[in-house]
Amino acid sequence: MTTHRPERESVLHNWTVQSAWDGPEIVGGEGARLFTADGRSILDFSSQSECSNLGHQHPAVVRAIREQAERLCYVSNAWGAAPRARLAEMLLEKSGDAGGRVFFTLGGADANEHAVKIARQALGRPRGIVVARDRSYHGATHAAMALSGDSRTRDQVDPATFGVVHALPPYAYRCPFGTTTPEACGARAAAHVSELIGRIGRDEVAAVLMEPNAGTNGIIAPDSYWPQVRAAATWAGAYLIADEVMSGFGRCGEWFAWQRYGEAGRPDLMTLAKGLTGAHLPLGAVVMSAAVAARLEDQMLLTGLTFGGHPLSCAAGVAAMEAYESEGLIERSRRLGAELFTALRALQERHPTIGDVRGGHGLFAVLEFVEDRRSRAPLAPWPQVPLMLRRVLTDAMAAGVSLAVRGNLLILAPPLVVAEQDIADTLALLDRLLTAHAAPHRP
Ligand SMILES: Cc1ncc(COP(=O)(O)O)c(C=O)c1O
Repeated sequence: MTTHRPERESVLHNWTVQSAWDGPEIVGGEGARLFTADGRSILDFSSQSECSNLGHQHPAVVRAIREQAERLCYVSNAWGAAPRARLAEMLLEKSGDAGGRVFFTLGGADANEHAVKIARQALGRPRGIVVARDRSYHGATHAAMALSGDSRTRDQVDPATFGVVHALPPYAYRCPFGTTTPEACGARAAAHVSELIGRIGRDEVAAVLMEPNAGTNGIIAPDSYWPQVRAAATWAGAYLIADEVMSGFGRCGEWFAWQRYGEAGRPDLMTLAKGLTGAHLPLGAVVMSAAVAARLEDQMLLTGLTFGGHPLSCAAGVAAMEAYESEGLIERSRRLGAELFTALRALQERHPTIGDVRGGHGLFAVLEFVEDRRSRAPLAPWPQVPLMLRRVLTDAMAAGVSLAVRGNLLILAPPLVVAEQDIADTLALLDRLLTAHAAPHRP
């Protein structure tokens, strides 16, 4: 009989110090909960990597995967597959991109890479510059790392080599332009995108690629930002690419976060992954408008992935979209997100270490922790995780709740099916833990 080495000795794990990895072994799940091999039940308050929007083991998605597996597991893109066509149709309908097309990928990073390739090819600017943003994350493949404005990987890629220029972020709590209101910060940051494009030269720019709302780096643009960025891209004759990998599928209270702004926020292309299958199988997509698709119609598309549009993943995507719709999860997320935001504001009243509360358009909210509320001095320099938050995380896990932390930020993003009582209980737990670890601790 083979004896298995523990996972910590054989797998190289994502974004972690290998010697510090101590994840519990998960053997099952249901709704917002995961079950460990040693018999514990854990409330997943981050939807894993903000991707399990439908909760775990959604029965309709599991059934659709099983049924598709029995019919047909795989054909390449050269041949058709019914769930692929159906999913593309559903995405175009939800985004209102009649006459558009969908290019399928395996996840978010390659969706962003392909959106850039497609934008450049469609515009006839094969080396066109992409304007992205500081304090952003677009994935961990090389070109996606270049698109990301991520201090952790800055030494590994030179954005300029990939034709990427970064704009300053609409980070209203610490506005890089020194404004004093969120709306002013959003407007100023968007004007900065136009200035940057002007400096690069309008004809040189192929795309502006940004997240319309939620993101790993915890910056949520004020409402003044996105429509003005849309206008800046139009003025440049460049495409606007919305990275909806995290913000899509109800996470921000809409099917796609840009829809908060109606037609004024409509991108030319958007990238999807994570919630697309409710994370039951890997899948990413680039959804493009009819105008973009028309430009590609008679050209050879010079890219493709063996497993792009895998029928099993697409069947999961179709079932996931049906579940979001039939269970009213987009609207539920919007309602519960607003309630969560109000409750977090009340929590902030009681805990001076909570400097800022943002989000709440859907079930995605960010708490930013500070040492001193007046000076807004961070608890730890970005992107270090302060000791206080590490303690909160450990104690929450011991109490059966998994929370996500990035630097000074606590990110709350439960599955959209989470029970309202679970939200209330988690807020009460957080209240207790913040009291217990009240004294600011440096890392
Ligand atoms: C906004 C955003 N874009 C892209 C990605 C990369 O997606 P993936 O990990 O599926 O490649 C992520 C992942 O966290 C993300 O949050």
